[in-house]
Amino acid sequence: MNILVTGGAGFIGSHTVVALAEAGFTPIILDDFSNSEAGVIDGLESILGFRPVTYTENCHNPETLRRIFRDEKIQGIIHFAAFKAVGESMQKPLEYYDNNVGALIVLLKTMQECHIPHLIFSSSCTVYGEPDALPVTEKTPVKPAFSVYGNTKQIGEEILHDTVSAGIPLKIIALRYFNPIGAHPSAAIGELPRGVPNNLVPFITQTAAGLRTSLTVFGDDYPTPDGTCIRDYIHVLDLAEAHVAALSHLMKTTASSYYDIFNIGTGQGVSVMELIKSFERVTGVSLNYSIGPRRSGDVTAVYAGVEKSEKVLGWKATRSMDQALVDAWRWQVKG
Ligand code: UD1
Repeated sequence: MNILVTGGAGFIGSHTVVALAEAGFTPIILDDFSNSEAGVIDGLESILGFRPVTYTENCHNPETLRRIFRDEKIQGIIHFAAFKAVGESMQKPLEYYDNNVGALIVLLKTMQECHIPHLIFSSSCTVYGEPDALPVTEKTPVKPAFSVYGNTKQIGEEILHDTVSAGIPLKIIALRYFNPIGAHPSAAIGELPRGVPNNLVPFITQTAAGLRTSLTVFGDDYPTPDGTCIRDYIHVLDLAEAHVAALSHLMKTTASSYYDIFNIGTGQGVSVMELIKSFERVTGVSLNYSIGPRRSGDVTAVYAGVEKSEKVLGWKATRSMDQALVDAWRWQVKG
């Protein structure tokens, strides 16, 4: 069964290509390589033993989508292609709304026209903002977004909800990702941040490798046991496998219009300091870090309630954070 993976050369996308192929699906990549490297396809080839079909185009053009849907006999879509830098989104709101929301609308209209029913959408735990109670479940209220990026995810979810509520025959799942880390254990694919990484783990591995002089811990005066922020770090391969579970669930669903939302995390909250200590322990590398001021827009703590995804999708994270950190480090050292 042929599945179109938009953004399939990105961090989560490339690992999902592997998970799809391992589950017997045929992934077809659509990526404009605006935030990914051509070498990712070589890495995928070395893992899979075949070179995935790849289209170097963006998702804004319905004519492109129609052609690929037809030529590749696409039966489902996993839509990763989007911009994801929180800070940049505040400088470039129109680019973010155009790429993350505009292209989603084009995709949905073209899916409807071409009778392709199955869609998985990448959402984020950022929709919960600073939650009033932990863990957050899918029933936890969504809070006003802190950033344009966060707003594109909220608007995306609303568009999907409204589309399905109108009875349009599409079956859609939105996955709210927590914090993906790690890499494929082969070190053939992994995270490839451009410039200075925003996210914690690539910053740690680059610092440990000597590419950056020091890691700044953004605040140790939060109301948490050690004063640093708490997140739910999930191995990217576990996250990738959640897409396969979601797609399989959609394909079994008999309703012609369907929309649901799932948290995709481990259910474990881990502080920045705990993660740093784990990294040092599993790699044997000591990290140069110091405590700095809080980063604006950070929430104190968020981690996933995972009951719904376990019950409905039959999926749960199986890899440890230690494993993810070892894999992230192997990828960094190889890079
Ligand atoms: C961030 C985004 C989130 C997005 C996700 C995508 C913000 C506020 N949130 O999540 O919307 O969906 O990335 O991957 O940008 N930290 C440090 N030092 C660093 C980097 C990070 O102490 O150099 C801390 C942060 O304060 C935070 C934790 O590490 O407590 C995780 O940060 P990060 O990896 O950037 O993820 P989020 O902020 O959770």
